[in-house]
Amino acid sequence: VNQLAPQPPSQSAALDDLSTPAVLIDRLRLEANLRAMQELCTARGTALWPHIKTHKMVPILRRQLEFGAEGATCAKVGEAEAMLPSGVRRIFIAHSLVQKNLAPRLRALNAQLDELILAVTSEAHAAALDELLEAADLALPVLLAIDTGLGREGVRSNEAARAAAERIRRSPRMQLAGLYTHEGHAYSSKPAELDALADGVYATLIERAAAIGGEPPLWPGCSVTATRLAGRAGVKVVRPGSYVFGDLSLVETTKVMPRDRFAATVLATVVDRPEPGLALIDAGSKVLSGDRTADGIYARDAAGARWEVRRVSEEHGFVTGEDADALEIGQRVSLLPAHVCPVINLALRVQVIEDGRVLDTWQVDARGRSD
Ligand SMILES: Cc1ncc(COP(=O)(O)O)c(C=O)c1O
Repeated sequence: VNQLAPQPPSQSAALDDLSTPAVLIDRLRLEANLRAMQELCTARGTALWPHIKTHKMVPILRRQLEFGAEGATCAKVGEAEAMLPSGVRRIFIAHSLVQKNLAPRLRALNAQLDELILAVTSEAHAAALDELLEAADLALPVLLAIDTGLGREGVRSNEAARAAAERIRRSPRMQLAGLYTHEGHAYSSKPAELDALADGVYATLIERAAAIGGEPPLWPGCSVTATRLAGRAGVKVVRPGSYVFGDLSLVETTKVMPRDRFAATVLATVVDRPEPGLALIDAGSKVLSGDRTADGIYARDAAGARWEVRRVSEEHGFVTGEDADALEIGQRVSLLPAHVCPVINLALRVQVIEDGRVLDTWQVDARGRSD
């Protein structure tokens, strides 16, 4: 045994025994979040293919499948490979794959699944993917990306949608299986704006589907919009990711998740009080990531005290705000991060907690698998 390597805590250790910073997963809240999203989708007759980019953990995907998820969405080939031990049989990789050297990995992945679906994100990308599929000697279903306001991947007009769809239909290696969108511009929306935003996303998809013809199935739905889009005519699948844990964008900005439901926190320690009004904690950008809310906040006290982390360096979080002076050196604090996905990706492992005890330690299986 390498005595220098940090050892996972023994079964059901007390939280006080954990070294910080540590990422804690509240098992009961996680279960409640998984169950609620699945129940909603089942009730509306829409399939759930959760995006695993948030949790990147085999035990969580396994649980999502047990609850009734029909497949999983992954950001990259590497994430999909890392999720295979969950027993998942259907995967959608929502990225513009182009590199020819992915061919053998795509073949191997496809051989281990019942269904592998890839993304086509433009007419030009369709041509590149066609070459990759030729190199891999594969014929696969594809979903065409529709930009519904984020301004990232996806066709921007009916003409572009038609051109991309025609390019797909001309290829013997691609079968157009539907349209997808990632409406990530929803994260900065206020609660009162969400109904209109979801209506706009849906209307754009319906318009592009009509332009293409053939009534392609629709695959929208991130954690902010899934409850508003599941069950609408033509919506076959939703792909929320961050609903499993929640973060400030879900709990505070869009308020789609109640405060008592967030399931991932960062446990940190106050390490110094260098001047009045400022406390330093041992979680900086290497733990909380560089993502902030629209108000510039990296993290907030999960227990509701009025202080925030508004500045980070690699190993320090700068805590300021009304209640910052109440913090004492050595005190432990529990943080709710602005954006949970990169926080999990930065952690080697997470501690699964229940009733203030550490029940289990899970590796972050697809950590760093952006390949
Ligand atoms: C293509 C795609 N689908 C689904 C999601 C899931 O979004 P969320 O984590 O907000 O539920 C994302 C998140 O970035 C994404 O990029």
